[in-house]
Amino acid sequence: MDNNNQGRVKRVLISEDDIRNAVQSAGEQLAQIYEGKPVLLVSVLKGAFIFLGDLCRCMNIPCRIDFMEAKSYLGNSTESCGQVEITMDLKHDISKYHVIIVEDIIDTGRTLSQVIKILKERNPLSLRIITLLDKPARRTVKLEADVSLFTIPDYFVVGYGLDYNGYHRNLPYIAEFEE
Ligand code: IMP
Ligand code: MG
Repeated sequence: MDNNNQGRVKRVLISEDDIRNAVQSAGEQLAQIYEGKPVLLVSVLKGAFIFLGDLCRCMNIPCRIDFMEAKSYLGNSTESCGQVEITMDLKHDISKYHVIIVEDIIDTGRTLSQVIKILKERNPLSLRIITLLDKPARRTVKLEADVSLFTIPDYFVVGYGLDYNGYHRNLPYIAEFEE
C-alpha cells in the first residue's frame, strides 16, 4: 500500500546546496544581531525542526532553544483549517529573552499570527520571525517574516522538515508534491 505517497513527490524545487548556503548566511547574520544578548530560538514543531537544527549550528553565539507545537492541519488535508491549537507549550519564561521564532513555511499565515499573538502577551524582550519558506500568494492574514530564505509559488512542498500526511520530512531538499 502506497500510504506514504512516494510517487507524488514530483521534482526538486530547492536543492540541498541552496538550502545550506541560505541557512549559513542567515545564521551568521542572526549571530551578529544577537551577539551578547540572551537569545531563545523557538521552533514551531514539527515542520521547523530540521531548519532549527541547521540554523542554530550556523549561529556562533550562546543561545537557548525551546519548542512549541501548533496544529493547523487536519489529517492528510493540504488546507489550513483556520483553527490553531497549541498542543505543546514552551518551557522558558520568554520575558527574559530575545525570541526568534523559527518557522518552516508561512502559507495562509494563520498559524503564525496566532502564535505571535500568544507570545507577545508574554512580553519577550524582542520578537523576530525567520521562515525558511514563504508562500505569499496564499496569505489570508497580514503577516510578514523579518527574514525569509525562499519565496515559493503556490505549490504544496515537502522535505527538509515539511510533510505530507507525516511523511517526507526526511528528504534533504524541498520538493514539489502533487496534491
Ligand atoms: P498557515 O497557517 O496556513 O500559514 O500554515 C502553516 C503551517 O502549515 C506550516 O507551518 C506547515 O506546517 C503547514 N504547511 C503550509 N504549507 C505547506 C506545504 O506546502 N507543505 C507542507 N506543509 C505546509
Ligand atoms: Mg509549521
